[in-house]
Amino acid sequence: MRILVIGSGAREHALLLGLSKDPAVTELHVVPGNAGMSALATLHEGKVDSPAEMTQLATSLGADLVVVGPEIPLVAGVADALREADINVFGPSKEAAQIEGSKAFAKDVMSAAGVKTAHAEIVAPGASEEEIDAALDRFGPIWVVKDDGLAGGKGVVVSEDRAAAREHVVAVHELGNPVLLESYLDGPEVSLFCLVDGETVVPLLPAQDHKRVRDNDEGPNTGGMGAYTPLPWLPEDGVQRIVDEVCVPVAKEMVRRGTPYSGLLYAGLAWGKDGIAVVEFNCRFGDPETQAVLALLKTPLGVLLNSVATGTLAEQPPLEWEDGYALTVVLAASGYPESPRTGDEITGAESAQVLHAGTALKEGKLISAGGRVLNVIGTGATLADARDSAYAVIKDIALDGAHYRSDIALPAVEGRISI
Ligand code: GLY
Repeated sequence: MRILVIGSGAREHALLLGLSKDPAVTELHVVPGNAGMSALATLHEGKVDSPAEMTQLATSLGADLVVVGPEIPLVAGVADALREADINVFGPSKEAAQIEGSKAFAKDVMSAAGVKTAHAEIVAPGASEEEIDAALDRFGPIWVVKDDGLAGGKGVVVSEDRAAAREHVVAVHELGNPVLLESYLDGPEVSLFCLVDGETVVPLLPAQDHKRVRDNDEGPNTGGMGAYTPLPWLPEDGVQRIVDEVCVPVAKEMVRRGTPYSGLLYAGLAWGKDGIAVVEFNCRFGDPETQAVLALLKTPLGVLLNSVATGTLAEQPPLEWEDGYALTVVLAASGYPESPRTGDEITGAESAQVLHAGTALKEGKLISAGGRVLNVIGTGATLADARDSAYAVIKDIALDGAHYRSDIALPAVEGRISI
């Protein structure tokens, strides 16, 4: 099987690594990729949100399967164009990708499917000062302010500080995007990724992201600073409950609307005292959780993703997983997330446990080229072992001004998370 992966982050590096281990995969290509991927795949240039360009590239390569990593190409209709050209694609249609692309669509689906989620209100750009204040007064004491444009999980402010919440409303409006105000959902967060093929829903291992930039969940939200899987504090029937209460009803509702879902449905959930509620859906693998989850997957990944693309997921055997735990720690550039500095040399990143995100090669040297630069994966029989394994590698990576969280999975290891 010849596979083209679209994307350039550590998530796509993890996908390529997983695909490279599948004996059915004969050739790997990636567009645009990054400096860490050249040993696994041939890198190509192209505009990833252009349905025409991506279809032309996949056709010229004779790709048997295209795996779309990020949400932007999906929302732009890349999967639809590939399907029209008779190319198998892992990723939902433009309409189904609205589950991430439009919060209003997602809320509508959840309401029809009877899935619990936060109360929400849209504040459109052009709202007056008084309208913004009145809307903020209807929420709190913890404000959740989201950029309702596509922000890849990065446009969210969660704060007890009303002034900071208001500032974000104004900043999002200045970008020309609507703001989504949401009631705050309490309880530990769970990311559950499900392979969805119409009404067939197959969950992967549950994971937890760490979105704040600094230890102890301090500082601004980021795209994710680290993640671990599985979750030792989740009830034994936790995954099944999420599948039954959230993912299957949503998959059925998408079929009922005539926009069946095909690809990865990412349910971001809060498990509070009143049960499970959806924080958001994404139409793609999550980053950085995917890097940890795929580190434990034993089932051949190419065949699995192709079964979703060809509508045969229901015929696949149950997924197989390694025992133990996996975790990933993100190494971020100086100034991330506000204003990451790029172009600095990176050394000490040769370990096979390192996945690349924002990296490039310049005159034969590895340099930083984005906010989240590298991911280090650790696995182990216990979560503590997995942490030790990842931190033993990340401590020896040198990148001027770089930072990482030292407490990924620590609350879980110390038994400080409960439902
Ligand atoms: N884990 C956050 C995201 O992928 O949006």
